[in-house]
Amino acid sequence: MLMNNYKRYNVTFVKGEGNYLFDDKGRKYLDMSAGIGVNSIGYAHPEWVKAVEGQAQTLAHASNLFHTQPAQKLADEIAEKTGLHSVFFANSGAEANEALIKLARKYSFDKTDSPARHKIATLSNSFHGRTVTTLSATGQDRLHKYFDPFTEGFYHIEPNKKLELQGETCAVLIEVVQGEGGIKPLEPEFLREIQKKCADNDILFLIDEIQTGFGRCGEWFAYQNYGLTPDAISFAKGVGGGLPIGGIVAREGLKDVLSYGTHGSTFGGNPIACAGALATIEVISRLLPGIKSKGERLKLILNKKFGNSRGLGLMLGATIGDNLDDIITQLLESGIVPLTAGGGTLRLLPPLTITEKEIDEFEKKLAEIG
Ligand SMILES: Cc1ncc(COP(=O)(O)O)c(C=O)c1O
Repeated sequence: MLMNNYKRYNVTFVKGEGNYLFDDKGRKYLDMSAGIGVNSIGYAHPEWVKAVEGQAQTLAHASNLFHTQPAQKLADEIAEKTGLHSVFFANSGAEANEALIKLARKYSFDKTDSPARHKIATLSNSFHGRTVTTLSATGQDRLHKYFDPFTEGFYHIEPNKKLELQGETCAVLIEVVQGEGGIKPLEPEFLREIQKKCADNDILFLIDEIQTGFGRCGEWFAYQNYGLTPDAISFAKGVGGGLPIGGIVAREGLKDVLSYGTHGSTFGGNPIACAGALATIEVISRLLPGIKSKGERLKLILNKKFGNSRGLGLMLGATIGDNLDDIITQLLESGIVPLTAGGGTLRLLPPLTITEKEIDEFEKKLAEIG
């Protein structure tokens, strides 16, 4: 029996194929949530299956005391796509952010203004994970209950307002589009102001690309829509195409900050997950040119139905308010898998493989619900 920490819908999925899911009663659903941004190339994509099967037959795991080819190749791919330099692999988003936080504090320690600067600024309404430390980073009061004492040294600044950083700050960590917080893209001027203030004060500019990354926002990474140059980013979710993988990639000069023995992960860089990620990236590279136009079309569809919509690429939301639960139930009953986010938001994160015909189907079913 499972614990009660999730409020699950009364549906049991048994199979996925393309952009559709099937439940144990044989009902078919168009997936508009991608397992919360994970199934970026849909289900059972033949290239992904081939890569994962092949790697499972070759080498499923080796410890990080040795090199493996899939991890090295994937690190090089990610460095190339980001324009950054060196990679650490973890297994989830929260773990990736833990690594970013340790990178920032160790960077500051190595600079040795003594005592080291240790504070990290994050945004109100942000979401960075569920470990005790990443909950501290998360700027939502409702999540700061029950688990005291939380990790010290985090404070929250208001998005798109005057930027004021406290003394002792070693890093600023942001999502370019707040995901769990309600699909809220930050204003470009605010992003550029953060970047400048960080650069001028030797503060690390860190971007959480866990939900926004790997094509979700129409470029490889959301920050590339704004011409930003972060010092390091975290990633997870969509890169694995369904297998658990996360990590960070940092600019040149930060490769040796997490020196021997300061950080690690038994499963990080697992060969099967990395082989799956390499296949996923290959598929996304072909999808990338079409993502923004599909997103614009879905934005219009949401706007027509609800009178508002927002987002970037295929990361979309509309404010519904009190009616949200009812809308979600109706969508599920009509064979659509939707998603919610904070602030009464209907959130859409379809697989990046969604076709125009499938968008037609979504439009038709959305029009039919009350
Ligand atoms: C922006 C962001 N950061 C971190 C996380 C945490 O990722 P995980 O659930 O893989 O730990 C999420 C998950 O929703 C996220 O959206």
